[in-house]
Amino acid sequence: MALLIGPKDYENEPPRHPALRINAKEPFNAEPPPSALVASYITPIDMFYKRNHGPIPILKDPSSYRLEITGLAPKKLSLSLEAIRSLKKHTVVATLQCAGNRRTAMSDTRKVKGVGWGISALGNGIWGGVLLSDVLELAGIPCYTRRSANGGKHVEFISVDQCKEEKGGPYRASVPLLQATDPEAEVLLAYEMNGEELTRDHGYPLRIVVPGVIGARSVKWLASIDICPIECQGFFQQQDYKMFPPWVDWNNIVWPSRRPLMDFPVQCAICTPSDGSFIKTGTTVKISGYALSGGGRGIERVEVSLDGGRTWIEATRLQSGRSAPSNSYISDVDEQREKWAWVLWEYSTTMTPPTTIIAKANIVVDSSPKPRSFNNSLNHIASAPALDKAIYSASVEESAIDFCFFDVQLMVPPLSWKQYPEVDRLVSRQPPQSASDYPVKPDGLSTLVNTKPKSRVPFRYLKILLTAFQCINTGFDMN
Ligand code: MTE
Repeated sequence: MALLIGPKDYENEPPRHPALRINAKEPFNAEPPPSALVASYITPIDMFYKRNHGPIPILKDPSSYRLEITGLAPKKLSLSLEAIRSLKKHTVVATLQCAGNRRTAMSDTRKVKGVGWGISALGNGIWGGVLLSDVLELAGIPCYTRRSANGGKHVEFISVDQCKEEKGGPYRASVPLLQATDPEAEVLLAYEMNGEELTRDHGYPLRIVVPGVIGARSVKWLASIDICPIECQGFFQQQDYKMFPPWVDWNNIVWPSRRPLMDFPVQCAICTPSDGSFIKTGTTVKISGYALSGGGRGIERVEVSLDGGRTWIEATRLQSGRSAPSNSYISDVDEQREKWAWVLWEYSTTMTPPTTIIAKANIVVDSSPKPRSFNNSLNHIASAPALDKAIYSASVEESAIDFCFFDVQLMVPPLSWKQYPEVDRLVSRQPPQSASDYPVKPDGLSTLVNTKPKSRVPFRYLKILLTAFQCINTGFDMN
């Protein structure tokens, strides 16, 4: 029996980087500062967000570990770590994103339950391991199988951590058999992250990585894989990470009426400058952030508006960490295109405050989509107005717009501010006031707020532009 155990308490948690912002201590949930995200294309392990639902499991004796493959598999398997490592190694660069990313901002529009997350519940990793499709072949299930000989249609991943949502049982989730057996989907049994052995926080000794799909399906501390006739009936697949229309609330929610979230929708966020930055007129500011979309659809372009959505300029994409900043196109057939990974982007400009910066990311859906291209994530996006119908009429998508507030002071800063050559001072964001009279309402922004200056403080002329946004693209994730 494997000695991978899920403890009951938090006595044996691993050490974590002090720069992480802790959103919940037990279970440990934390994210890096947004500026750390854009500092490197591959997110360092200690700066990678940590998303847990119970105490971190412990593997006392790695040689005792066995991954069990059970259920409707023609051949049952029990694989040691050594056996798994002896299989053909596969590496994939993939961004893992929690469906709860930006949940705190969602609550600005409507209260959402669960751990609050800023904009950093994601990270881009190099995952090393074995293709799940290779392992399933060993279990007698060939590639591209929709339904196994004995009726298996889903592949369930089962962990050992003790989660209160599962009444003390383990975390589990499933993906369709067709996705699991598709080598192109690159679902991985990962034992490495960024070239190093997985750390405990990220699933040691073995985790699943499902590229392009919400992080909730990438089960950590994997104990067994069950081939089953229906999708996972666990809490995290049936009563969480689902999307509901606005008329559904806690009184009338019917969980089985919606499918579980799988591919994540297009996403875009501004990481620098941060909310509420004060800048001087004429200062050159580097605006930077990330953009990504699920299902391997990639990012076509990122645009930035410095005038609250009236006009847009294309930002520079850093599509692969290896290349210098470049907007060159990487062919769809090129293995290096890293379709599961985010795109970091930047745009430097001289600012004339006060203003509101908005960023949006666009994807292009090809005219002959594969079946998986149109799933719940795109249905959801389709309900948002397209910002840019002109160029890619096929179906250009726009992402949620991150809110980046610029509170600007036009007076000469006090001497003490000289230590900051560009951004003079960071202040906490002013609370939104009325949702009324903003001159331009960019499509896709549900609420855009402008407050005219109401007070003049001696020696200070303060204008505040506030933007609230409705997060259109994150799951209805309650935990
Ligand atoms: N796997 C187990 N066993 N337990 C968990 O709590 N959390 C899931 C997923 N896999 C979870 C899990 C969620 S919601 C996310 S977003 C990712 O792991 C987070 O992975 P990370 O902590 O390595 O960033």
